[in-house]
Amino acid sequence: MTTDSPYSCIAPASDATLERAASLLRTGELVAFPTETVYGLGADASNPAAVAKIFAAKGRPADHPVIVHVAAVEDFAFWARDLPAAAQKLIARFCPGPLTLILPRAAHVSDAVTGGQNSVGIRMPSHPVARRLLQAFAAQGGRGVAAPSANCFGHVSPTTAQHVADDLHDRVALIVDGGSCEHGIESTIIALTNETPLLLRPGSLSLAALEATLGIPLQRLDRERADAAPRASGTLASHYAPRTPAELVSANALDAVCLRYHHEGKRAAVLLRTVSSPEHAAHTFVAPIDVHGYARLLYAALRALDAHGDDVLLIEDVPTTVEWMAVRDRLLRATH
Ligand code: TXA
Ligand code: MG
Repeated sequence: MTTDSPYSCIAPASDATLERAASLLRTGELVAFPTETVYGLGADASNPAAVAKIFAAKGRPADHPVIVHVAAVEDFAFWARDLPAAAQKLIARFCPGPLTLILPRAAHVSDAVTGGQNSVGIRMPSHPVARRLLQAFAAQGGRGVAAPSANCFGHVSPTTAQHVADDLHDRVALIVDGGSCEHGIESTIIALTNETPLLLRPGSLSLAALEATLGIPLQRLDRERADAAPRASGTLASHYAPRTPAELVSANALDAVCLRYHHEGKRAAVLLRTVSSPEHAAHTFVAPIDVHGYARLLYAALRALDAHGDDVLLIEDVPTTVEWMAVRDRLLRATH
């Protein structure tokens, strides 16, 4: 289902729209488009002036690298200097899909894309609209579309065309509407710039499946390694944040915490999963109990609760199991 919106920059993903989107990209304009993870804010990755517009639109610092989105697996070798065996295995198994690989950059890749680093992030999305757009762009001579998530810097990622418009409607030429994103959280990012593959950002792909394909364990990003690792703005502690101050609260403490805020004269919006609505919640959103359903709706829920302008946003804590790692990572950042 696509968006019925007052914004004229939103257009349903027809063939004509995708041709127009590809032309706009080729002429250096910004186009937002759906992927299976979240919506991206795209620019021609071969055009540094176009890529610079992404940073201006988002209000993002210029030294943050952006991911290059490609139409075909062969394109990884265009943007990367070489493809280590680990990359070839991951590409064969998971691309197209919600996976970004950080690889040594090819010489022609601009600093606008890499943030001045020696590496480049590359991803081949599986969303049919993203694929059609990338193919139309390639047919017009384009090689890749640089795209971060299509939100203002530091804000929650968009999972609908309307979310993109809410943040960026006056700063994009076109928003291609492909409905709601299937995964709802950003891609898994793996850096292959050192001996050992390093998980920079968990996503919806299972770690067990990734490690089985690699044949070795993934290194996790921890504090000690954070300095040596390539910069990833998604790894900043305060990323993916709603505007309302947010807190993670265990299920059995939710009632008491709501009551406390009520006594203080404060209004609490609450994101629930397993427990029933606290008596003193000002607004609630009940998220799906399963991890995939939860991830798919998480950002929409945060945006909807945020819009009430309450004093605090309480989020029922989720399991600490590995299955929930990517969701919990986003919740910890949202509540930092
Ligand atoms: O699912 C996704 O990955 C979405 C969709 C649109 O593809 N994109 C996305 O982009 O989440 P962004 O820019 O919001 O987050 C990408 C992360 C950033 O933290 C960026 O710093 C990191 O990837 N990144 C990109 N290139 C990198 C590089 N060469 N080295 C290290 N990190 C990199
Ligand atoms: Mg982002």
